[in-house]
Amino acid sequence: MGAIKNTQIVLADRPVADIEPKKTFRIQQVSISDELGPNEIFVKVLYISLDPAMRGWMRDIRSYIPPVKIDEVMRSSDVAQVIKSNSPAFKAGDLVRVSCGWQEYAVVKVSNDVFKIETFHGVPPSTYLGVLGLTGLTAYFGLHEVGEIAKKGGPNCTVVVSGAAGATGSVAAQIAKHVFGCRVIGIAGSNDKCDYLVKDLGLDVALNYKSKTFFKELSAATPKLIDIFFDNTGGDILDGCLRRIAFKGRIIVCGAISTYNDVAPKGPAYYSALITQRARMEGFIVFDYAKQYGKALEDMSRWIKEGKLKSRETVVHGIENAPDALVSLFKGDNTGKMLVKVADEDSTKSKL
Ligand SMILES: NC(=O)c1ccc[n+]([C@@H]2O[C@H](COP(=O)([O-])OP(=O)(O)OC[C@H]3O[C@@H](n4cnc5c(N)ncnc54)[C@H](OP(=O)(O)O)[C@@H]3O)[C@@H](O)[C@H]2O)c1
Repeated sequence: MGAIKNTQIVLADRPVADIEPKKTFRIQQVSISDELGPNEIFVKVLYISLDPAMRGWMRDIRSYIPPVKIDEVMRSSDVAQVIKSNSPAFKAGDLVRVSCGWQEYAVVKVSNDVFKIETFHGVPPSTYLGVLGLTGLTAYFGLHEVGEIAKKGGPNCTVVVSGAAGATGSVAAQIAKHVFGCRVIGIAGSNDKCDYLVKDLGLDVALNYKSKTFFKELSAATPKLIDIFFDNTGGDILDGCLRRIAFKGRIIVCGAISTYNDVAPKGPAYYSALITQRARMEGFIVFDYAKQYGKALEDMSRWIKEGKLKSRETVVHGIENAPDALVSLFKGDNTGKMLVKVADEDSTKSKL
């Protein structure tokens, strides 16, 4: 095949506040060779995962992974198809989850981070960026390891999930409800999303945090207070839930999207509730549990087959639309997992 035209999107400028798609990113065409070294595969990207964490990766600060460098291809988790392989573990046509960023093609060195996708029961490959990807694993480990839901769960356990109609939140809410039988209250940013949470996902209550009476509604919905709060948003919602935290309650600090674009983020005002209620608030990063991914994926696959976990995707088409789609994630334009579709499976051979 030789040299192939490859569209890439690179980080051009670090945003100070909101992402400005045209200034923050640059789209470029480069040429990529499919010549492979030992244990390398040549892949074509099918789907790109868009994640709020990307905003953090653009900041040049101490974090859990290094920042994306200026002029570097924007980092992402992707589902890709192997076009050519120089590894005994993969053959042309295989589907893999891999981190090759915002580009159409890549040469990837095979490592533990290249995960072979086995589709089952009509579950599409893109699910491996959602319920069966880092998103679903985040919900699983946040609830199990930080929330200790296996100990605390059951009908007397009240669980509140913020960002509940999003990718991670919708999985966390369903696990709490349909696997552990808790009373689950989802918080989301529109009435349509609240309908989705109750009617489609079967939550007990859903609250729109943009409603003027949200904090009153939160109190009314939590008469026995909150045993576990799975927080994806931070900000005022976190404060509202701190005020309702139960004795020995757990706050799982998964994310704080409401603060990611802030130049000077503020902390929670009601953190003293942690003292009075002997409650615990703890952050985590999904990668901490990499050794346990296998067991978690077995559980999650089973829950999908048993109808306990449903998934929804918001798909934007075309790699050139990734920067705008990332911005729209911060505006709540997605329900479920936000993805960019770059190419169709199997169309590669005819294109090259
Ligand atoms: N700790 C970890 O290892 C880990 C791993 C993955 C993700 N995360 C975190 O988990 C959270 C969810 O990530 P995701 O990938 O599942 O994204 P997501 O929830 O699918 O999408 C983000 C959602 O956040 C909501 N949102 C945006 N701005 C908001 C604001 N100011 N206040 C309240 N809600 C707001 C929007 O929904 P509404 O319409 O409801 O506002 C939007 O749909 C993020 O904070 C992310 O950083 C953590």
